Amino acid sequence: MQVLATRRYPGPAFAELPDVEVLPLAALEEPRPGVGGLIAANEPVPFDLLPGLRIVANYGVGYDRVDAAECARRGIVVTNTPGVLDAATADLAFALVLAARRRVVEGDRLVRSGGWVGSWAEDSLLAEELAGSTLGIVGLGRIGSAVARRAQGFELRVLYTQRHDVETELGEYRELDALLSESDVVTLHVPRTAETIGLLDARRLALLRDGTCLVNTARGDIVDEAALLAELVSGRIRAGLDVFAHEPSVPPELLGLPNVVLTPHLGSGTRQTREAMTRLVVDNVLALERGEPPLTPVP
Ligand code: DGY
Repeated sequence: MQVLATRRYPGPAFAELPDVEVLPLAALEEPRPGVGGLIAANEPVPFDLLPGLRIVANYGVGYDRVDAAECARRGIVVTNTPGVLDAATADLAFALVLAARRRVVEGDRLVRSGGWVGSWAEDSLLAEELAGSTLGIVGLGRIGSAVARRAQGFELRVLYTQRHDVETELGEYRELDALLSESDVVTLHVPRTAETIGLLDARRLALLRDGTCLVNTARGDIVDEAALLAELVSGRIRAGLDVFAHEPSVPPELLGLPNVVLTPHLGSGTRQTREAMTRLVVDNVLALERGEPPLTPVP
């Protein structure tokens, strides 16, 4: 089966594809009826240019930009990469919690600018303690649970929301509004769906207490970006943001704010995780070629 990959995905597994062409979708000009497999990183599928598709193997767990309903209608299998990126994403969420709450980036800027001239005992960068505070996890799925396990080591009280009613030792269940108003730190781990776009709107953001730190490693438009900007510009809350509504564009107003830490969608960005994602993508394609069921079809 001819496979088109939108980039050379990292790791040795990529070389196991017997017939693969690396080409960004933007460079695809003519229909390619011979292509049966598409490997892409949450990119819209050009169905007209790839009429022979049998599988879209999504490099990533989130596939919100792949029209899975249209794929199903056309008999195209869609797979994603669940599980292998939980630890890396949970680690990055924690890095942002620590960086935003403990003012790490502000401190870094102060040192680099030569502005650190006094004693450590002055309190210009005093932060709020993390231990003993309350972490609200919006979406206790695979990644949210990995965050909750890390939270135990940091001595946090954990609250969580969850789609399905599952008993867990990892924290206490709350309705979303209650979680937002009770937490010192809120971290988002829901997929982007019709129900979660704009989930944290202006009303819900106003429920956050003064000084709360909001971390988003999920999808940018789960939060109303304009309302979030207003809260951040006012200085009422802090944030650690790895995702944005219109990536790679970042609202320019964010760039000068001291109370925000920004990263460029790095959640799964470790070599080990990205190589494991490639492994799973390739295994899904090879399984289909052998006539076997895909390993991780999307629900
Ligand atoms: C995903 O897998 O959906 C992530 O956003 C990539 O890190």
